[in-house]
Amino acid sequence: MFSWTGLLVVLCGALAPALCCDWLRHYRRLSNASQTLVLVMGGELTKDRSPVSFPYKLYESMYKAEVESQLVFIRDSLELISDLYHHDNLSSANWDTVKTEDFLMNIHRQTEELNGCVSTNKRADSKLGKYYRRLKRSTLSRTGGSTASWELIRKATKLHLDQLDLLVVFIRASAESSRRRSTPTQRHH
Ligand SMILES: *[C@@H]1O[C@H](CO)[C@@H](O)[C@H](O)[C@H]1NC(C)=O
Ligand SMILES: *[C@@H]1O[C@H](CO)[C@@H](O)[C@H](O)[C@H]1NC(C)=O
Repeated sequence: MFSWTGLLVVLCGALAPALCCDWLRHYRRLSNASQTLVLVMGGELTKDRSPVSFPYKLYESMYKAEVESQLVFIRDSLELISDLYHHDNLSSANWDTVKTEDFLMNIHRQTEELNGCVSTNKRADSKLGKYYRRLKRSTLSRTGGSTASWELIRKATKLHLDQLDLLVVFIRASAESSRRRSTPTQRHH
């Protein structure tokens, strides 16, 4: 069983301590809520294919990065996801308004808390922003925010949240194993 306290010590020791721990402490609950809300705020996810292919390569490259870059990547991704929904015609999505609002507040809260962990001056690779701009252009902007384009955005959002969660699981596991290496097991005679 994974030790949460160990992670707080390792990660928050390496990064900005106090605020960083806030995000980690809340992460499991917030992430569970955002992943649930994005599903229940609308109906079944669309079977339509996104006109923009999913940036798996960007995620892959993050597994080799330093923990700070990984957290910057997560923060920027959540910010860019949030930006997608700042659109005049969000109402044509026909989603549950309260759940949609809760979802967006959740994402905003995670972004704010991550800003306590990593520098607000640091930015993820510009390819990330380019991907999200391309996604917005070829869905929402092209259709003026049609219902179908919102469904493509919601499906893409779910895929991103899944990938970001996998990255956090990986960061947790890495922090845990580096903690084990630095804390020799005590011997009792
Ligand atoms: C969220 O938590 C509930 C209750 O523990 C669990 O059943 C559900 O599978 C979780 N959802 C996600 C997306 O992790
Ligand atoms: C919202 O929809 C209206 C009517 O379809 C359209 O004229 C307008 O350009 C759309 N707004 C945006 C920001 O796409």
